[in-house]
Amino acid sequence: MGSLAKATAESSVDQLTILSKAIEEKTQILANKLRAKGLGAPSFQADGLSDFPLNEVDDEAIKVRQEIIALTKELHDLVLGPREWLKTMAWDAISYIPLHAICEFRIAEAVPLSGSITYEELAVKVHRLSGTTIIPSDLRRILRLAITNNMFHEPKIGSVAHNRTSLLLLDDTALANWAAFFTMDMMGPVANTVAAMKKWPGSQEANETGVNITFNHNDSFFDHLQADEALARRYATMLQSHGSREGYDISYTVSGYPWARLGSSTVVDMGGSEGVVSFAVAEQSPQLRFIVQDLAGMRTPEAIDKIPKNLTNRVSLTTHDFFQPQTESADAYLFRHIFHAFSDKYAIDILRALVPALRPGARVIINDIVLPAPGLLSQLEEKSIRTMDVLMKTVCNSREREVDDWRSLFEQADKRFRWQGAWKSSGKLWFIESIWEP
Ligand SMILES: C[S@@+](CC[C@H](N)C(=O)[O-])C[C@H]1O[C@@H](n2cnc3c(N)ncnc32)[C@H](O)[C@@H]1O
Repeated sequence: MGSLAKATAESSVDQLTILSKAIEEKTQILANKLRAKGLGAPSFQADGLSDFPLNEVDDEAIKVRQEIIALTKELHDLVLGPREWLKTMAWDAISYIPLHAICEFRIAEAVPLSGSITYEELAVKVHRLSGTTIIPSDLRRILRLAITNNMFHEPKIGSVAHNRTSLLLLDDTALANWAAFFTMDMMGPVANTVAAMKKWPGSQEANETGVNITFNHNDSFFDHLQADEALARRYATMLQSHGSREGYDISYTVSGYPWARLGSSTVVDMGGSEGVVSFAVAEQSPQLRFIVQDLAGMRTPEAIDKIPKNLTNRVSLTTHDFFQPQTESADAYLFRHIFHAFSDKYAIDILRALVPALRPGARVIINDIVLPAPGLLSQLEEKSIRTMDVLMKTVCNSREREVDDWRSLFEQADKRFRWQGAWKSSGKLWFIESIWEP
């Protein structure tokens, strides 16, 4: 071995010990913090803790935990090595079959809450619950793979029991719907995304996607959802699980923008759904009025009834399709979590539809995801945001955007939009702003 190759070999071995030492040190810090407060750590035992007690520890513990997650992954991947890593990545798709089967055949409901059940007895219960015949040997192979992925356990050979992960499917409806949606409803579209890219290269149309190939129709994803009541319910329920993820809380929309500088103004909350974002900002900004626009389907009498009594004189829920020319001449137009569902072609149409109502100085305030430059975030954070970007391709040919993409969107829509900049709130969403200067 030459000296350079030897040095490289040594430093690659050093990297393993550097990582393991850092993991040990940080785990010690975390364990001390938990012990000091008498807190437990998560466990896969049926009676274990399903979540790290994030709300009960200080900021340093939260940071150290993130670092341990990143470091252990790095060490794991390095010890595996690139060849095995690639093999594992390609092969792991098979692991989604058990999760899909568990959701589809209601297996978590069929396993008793305590004690265990034989695969033969389980087959009878699964048939009763789901109407599908699964032979015991298929149930056994499906669940034994699930067990290797930390779901269920087999306390004695031939009998299966719950563990903490599988119990979550019964305890947490939003999470159960999250698992069901991404397996039962999305595995086909995910598998057909590349076929859609071949069939419709570079498409910006919402009905030329993996969803269309899988279900063989020409509807957009949202029409596809509306056509199937069970699917629409699964989607709406799983969104609660998404919405409750760290960093997406409405409080960041309230605290992340200098609302006070708008003075006594009217804000149009575009695609504002039932108004919860406007309610939250209005509570904190007594000088602001809000007009919440959304499609007619969102304007049920129950939704109108939900306006808090103290806000009825400042917040109104109205109907407007944001592709149609805007009729409300206001000081600001807020778009929270809207544009990432539209390809550039349609996002530009939405911005142009504002123009008839815009008066000089009117602001367009966007609160949405911004893609980071590569390598800026931790690998895990970057993976999460890039997964969302590719998922938008699968679902509707839309996209997440970097700061320059947002800027370009305004430029393409109309040169009279004056770019004000983009900044991150303390949560995960950014604010992106332009002013109308005719
Ligand atoms: C992801 S939700 C965001 C809701 C809200 N802005 C928030 O941040 O919680 C997207 C919203 O856009 C609405 N929407 C979709 N197409 C629309 C259109 N053409 N005109 C107006 N609203 C629309 C939907 O009904 C839905 O309420």
